[in-house]
Amino acid sequence: MTRDQPTEAPVRVEDAPRPTTARLVENDTEIFIDGDFYMSVLREIHLRSEPKSYFEIGALFGDTLRQASCPAVAVDPHFQLRQDAPLNLEQVTLREMTSDDYFASHDPIKDLGRSIDLAFLDGMHEFPFLLRDFINTEKYCHRRSIIAMHDCIPLDCHMTRLFRDMAVERPTNHPGCWAGDVWKMIPVLRRYRPDLEISCLNAAPTGLAICRNVDPHSTVLADNYDAILAEWETVRLEDFGIANLFAAARIQPVEAWLPGLRRFHGPNRLRQLRAALRPRRRILQAISALGLTRPPERPRAV
Ligand SMILES: C[S@@+](CC[C@H](N)C(=O)[O-])C[C@H]1O[C@@H](n2cnc3c(N)ncnc32)[C@H](O)[C@@H]1O
Repeated sequence: MTRDQPTEAPVRVEDAPRPTTARLVENDTEIFIDGDFYMSVLREIHLRSEPKSYFEIGALFGDTLRQASCPAVAVDPHFQLRQDAPLNLEQVTLREMTSDDYFASHDPIKDLGRSIDLAFLDGMHEFPFLLRDFINTEKYCHRRSIIAMHDCIPLDCHMTRLFRDMAVERPTNHPGCWAGDVWKMIPVLRRYRPDLEISCLNAAPTGLAICRNVDPHSTVLADNYDAILAEWETVRLEDFGIANLFAAARIQPVEAWLPGLRRFHGPNRLRQLRAALRPRRRILQAISALGLTRPPERPRAV
């Protein structure tokens, strides 16, 4: 594709695939996604999948971090954690630095004591940053890990402006909202990583992109990093087309996706076996303590 053109033929807005709960209308400022709030969806993911390790980039007040009840690492150059709801700092490691600095100097597996089960990427909302965060995070995952990304389904072009233009306001139904240009992750991952299982959920307000079947050994994105940026860095949503993005996202209702979610770690079979044998072992111990064990058989007379 050229820098300012979408890869595929444009999809007419009225033809774009859409979930029942997201409304896509001719005037793109009227798009909205009305599934459950992303924070409660994250909470539900934690409850159902029971991760043993959680990794978060971009924690701000700590609201998403607080959904984890397992050992967690959060990376943010400027934490503003709520004082009224303190985090359990025995479980949570806070790394106050940019994610690039974190990956240059730390190892999430050492911080967590194991590879990442669940990651939530919600740091700097500019495409090169999220692309790097994804590449770096995936290296510390395992095949069943989940990487969730926030804000990849913007509701209008205005909220996709770059960070440096944050203060610029235009007529919009979402004044003050900023999702940045991380929406590019969806078409880029679909093209470069068809091996990933990507589900874009209709979590309000700007979607949750969930990646499964991750591959810690994949180097495809890292190998193509410069080419991807050269191709995509200057593409604007106005050029790509919001209907094309919805077509690439194939948004799914949260309630249809959640029931398919399984626990990361099944029951420990060895522990189960030991527990099942425990009563039998106790009975045998009691019998032997009472001297009730069968006497040794006398040798038979021949
Ligand atoms: C949208 S907020 C995160 C909100 C939080 N996850 C939630 O949902 O409540 C984005 C956060 O990313 C942090 N951030 C900005 N640049 C970053 C970078 N380069 N690396 C890591 N975090 C960054 C900001 O300090 C901010 O706290």
